[in-house]
Amino acid sequence: MSKHRGVWQSNMGFLLAAIGSAIGLGNVWRFSYMAHQYGGGAFLVPYGVALLVAGLPIMLVEYGVGHLEKASSPLSFRRIGSRYEWLGWWMPVVAMFGIMLYYAVIIGWCVNYLFLSTTLAWGADPQTFFFTEFLQLTDSANNLGSFRPPILLATALVWFLCWLICYRDISHGIERASKIFMPILAILTLAMVAWTLTLEGAGHAILNNYLSADWSRINVFAAEPAVRTMAIKTWVAAFGQIFFTLSLGFGIMITYASYLPDKTNIAQNALVTCVVNCLYSLVAGLAVFGIVGFMAHSQAVPFDEAIKGGPQLAFVVYPKAISLLPSFNILFGVIFFLILIIAGLTSGVSLIEAFACSITDKFDWSRKRVVSTICTLCFAGSLIFTSQGGLYILDIADHFITNYGLVVGGLLECLLVGWVLKTTVLREHFARSGSIIPRFWDICVKFITPAILTMLVIFAINVDRTENYGGYTGTQLLFYGGGAMLVCLILALSLAFAAWRPEKLKRYHKPEEDDLLV
Ligand code: ALA
Repeated sequence: MSKHRGVWQSNMGFLLAAIGSAIGLGNVWRFSYMAHQYGGGAFLVPYGVALLVAGLPIMLVEYGVGHLEKASSPLSFRRIGSRYEWLGWWMPVVAMFGIMLYYAVIIGWCVNYLFLSTTLAWGADPQTFFFTEFLQLTDSANNLGSFRPPILLATALVWFLCWLICYRDISHGIERASKIFMPILAILTLAMVAWTLTLEGAGHAILNNYLSADWSRINVFAAEPAVRTMAIKTWVAAFGQIFFTLSLGFGIMITYASYLPDKTNIAQNALVTCVVNCLYSLVAGLAVFGIVGFMAHSQAVPFDEAIKGGPQLAFVVYPKAISLLPSFNILFGVIFFLILIIAGLTSGVSLIEAFACSITDKFDWSRKRVVSTICTLCFAGSLIFTSQGGLYILDIADHFITNYGLVVGGLLECLLVGWVLKTTVLREHFARSGSIIPRFWDICVKFITPAILTMLVIFAINVDRTENYGGYTGTQLLFYGGGAMLVCLILALSLAFAAWRPEKLKRYHKPEEDDLLV
C-alpha cells in the first residue's frame, strides 16, 4: 500500500502546502476579531503561551507520527493500538464535517463580496446590506428560512475548485496549487498592509488598540468573578485559536507529513510552519486594525465604535472602510477578498485531504472516486449554511467544534503519543530523520500540554454551563452544537468499526526498511 503513496516533490512544496493549510480565514478574519474581543495586545500573551506549550509541541507530534507511520491519522493511530483508531477518525471527521462544511460557505461569501466590491454594491450602510440583503438573516436559529442563491452558487464554485485541486495526487494537485497560490497570497498581503499603513488614523489605532493591552482580560486570578470569567474565556479562545490556525487536531499535519521522504528535518519544518503562520496573523492584524483606525478617523468616531466582532469585521467593517478610501477603493476591495479566498482555499483543500487520505488508506477506493464522492456529499452538507439562518448554525458549530472538538482531539493525541507510543519512539525517529528536539518537548507532550488542555476544557465547560454561548437558547446550543459533535462521533466510531484489510495494517516503525516512497 505504501508503494502507492504520493510524495511531495520538494520540501519547499511541502512547507508551502502546510503553511497554506495553516494560513486561512482563521488568520485574517478569526484572529483579528479575537484579538479585539479579548483585550487587544493582551490577547497576544495567551496566544504566545498557547503556541509554545501546545502549538509547537503538537505540531511536532503530528509531523512525527505522520512521518513515522507514513499514514493518515486513523491508520497511524490504529498501528499504535487498535483501540485508538476512533481518535484517528475523530480528527479528520471533525475537519470535514465540523469545519469544512461551513468553511466552504464563508469562502463563498468572500467570492460574492469579491464581485460586489467591483461596484461597491454594499452602498452607504454595509451592515444592513450584509444582514438584510446579502444573508437575509432570519430572526432566530429556529428559523432557517430558504436557501440564498448567490451564496449557494458561490459555495458550489468553492467545492468545485477544491475538488479540482484535490482530485489529482498530492504533488500534482495540492503541491502545485500551493506553489502558485502562496506567493500570490504573500504579495497581496504585503501590498494590503503597506497600503493600510499609509492611511490616516491607521498608525494611531495600531499603537493604541492593537499593540496596547487591557491586562485585566487575561488575569485568571482576578478577585472580581466577572473579570475572572472573562479572562478564562480569553485563555480558552487563545488555545482554540492556536489549534484552529495551525490546523492541529484535524489530522491534516499527520497526513501531510506522511508524504515526506525519509530524510527530512521535521523539527525545522514544524518551527517554520508555526512561526510563519503566527507572523502572518500578526502582520494581517496590522492591516485589520489599521483600516478600522482609518475608518474611525474618517468618521470621527472612537475605535471601539468603529470595529465590530465576528463575521462583521470582514463583511461590514471592511466594506465600509473600502468605500471611505480616498482612491482605488475597488482595487483595495478586490485585493482584500482575494486574500481571503486564496487563504481559505489552501486551507480548505487540506481539510478535504485529511479525510480523503484517511478513506483511501482504509478502503480500496481510488483517490479520484473518494475525492469526487466526498466533495459532492459535503457540498450537499454545506447547503444548510447557505440558508438564511445559516449564520446562527455556523456560529454555534464553530464555537463547539473549535473549543471542544479540536482541543479534546489534541489532548487525547498528546496522551496517546506521550504514554502509549512513548515520546522516546518519536524522539529516536526524529534523530534518524535528522532532527534534534529539546527534552522539554517530552515534558510538554506528557505532562504540561495535556494538563493545560484538560484545565481549559473544564473551564470552557463551566463557562458554557453558567451562561448560554452567544445568547442562544439551551435547546439551540444542544441541537446544533451538541448535535454536530454527536454526528462527528458516530461517524468516527462507524468508520473505525469497518474492517481493515490486513496488509494495510503493516507497521512501519522501522522507517529505514521503508524505502518504498516513489
Ligand atoms: N488553519 C486554517 C485557518 O486558520 C483552518 O483558517
